[in-house]
Amino acid sequence: MFRIVYTSRLDPAIGRAEIEAIVARAQARNKRDGITGAWLMRGRDCLSALEGPPKAVRETTEQIWDDRRHSEFRLHEMKPTDDRHFEGWDLEFVDVDDQSLARIEAHPGLSWLCRFAGGAEAFVSQGLPSEPDPNS
Ligand SMILES: Cc1cc2nc3c(=O)[nH]c(=O)nc-3n(C[C@H](O)[C@H](O)[C@H](O)COP(=O)(O)O)c2cc1C
Repeated sequence: MFRIVYTSRLDPAIGRAEIEAIVARAQARNKRDGITGAWLMRGRDCLSALEGPPKAVRETTEQIWDDRRHSEFRLHEMKPTDDRHFEGWDLEFVDVDDQSLARIEAHPGLSWLCRFAGGAEAFVSQGLPSEPDPNS
């Protein structure tokens, strides 16, 4: 099995109905392919993990990478794993707001995922850390 973690920023023009459609379609595809995972979104900042058979995870990652509905795609982790952090979730979508901290901290997989964004508290309050300015 394989797991990847990525961050990205969703296009602000994408509305609620389209987000729900992306999630519904992604869940159906992930279920078909044996992939489980989670997608946390704080404002437009996306933090996501997918795990499953290596070929399926690689192909899905390539499609997500190419998806024009988000940008600033960054892969943070891509490695073999023996166990799932998101068992039972085809793709759990969490629209993160100020009330989300307890829920994230109560789930080992979600807390683990937030480490890639500086921790659950940081992600809930500020979203993704800003990139260092390459010109400074
Ligand atoms: C932030 C984000 C997360 C996504 N997550 C998944 C996912 O977990 N699984 C998936 O199959 N597609 C996901 N998608 C959609 C893919 O980028 C792509 O649209 C889809 O795989 C193409 O399938 P379709 O042509 O059958 O719609 C995601 C898209 C975005 C913008």
